[in-house]
Amino acid sequence: MNRISKILTHHKYIDYIKKNAQAETNRIFCHHDLTHGIDVARVAYIMALEETLEIKKGIIYTASLLHDIGRWKEYEDGIDHALIGAELAVEILVDAGFNSEEILLICNAIKNHRNSAPSNSILGSILYKSDKISRPCHTCNARNKCKRFKEDEKPILYY
Ligand SMILES: [Fe+2]
Ligand SMILES: [Fe+2]
Repeated sequence: MNRISKILTHHKYIDYIKKNAQAETNRIFCHHDLTHGIDVARVAYIMALEETLEIKKGIIYTASLLHDIGRWKEYEDGIDHALIGAELAVEILVDAGFNSEEILLICNAIKNHRNSAPSNSILGSILYKSDKISRPCHTCNARNKCKRFKEDEKPILYY
């Protein structure tokens, strides 16, 4: 089994995704589910190819799939989901066979996936950008109520 499959089938990953779904049952805005993780991964990987960035596909997919696993915790006790997500990811990454250098890189990007500062890492930065532009705002019925959506700033389709 490859490392991505190990993440997707990890009992903790499955549990966190379920917790996100439960917490977002009545949410009218974007959900933080597996589909979102895959969308972010694909856009981030396209960015890496277009900008010829030296980051492995598996690292980009891993960081993207795990970046919102702590969202349920933010609904529960207000903890920043990026920070707690980076903590929760460690056990999954160790079990999936990532080494300490890779874990540091991925967890740092998860922690900074809401950080737009130029000082963010390359992985953190493409995670930040792809997280935003991968959202299908053009088909969202709640976009006029969404604080993140600005009609004049969001092109119809990015990719
Ligand atoms: Fe997030
Ligand atoms: Fe996200």
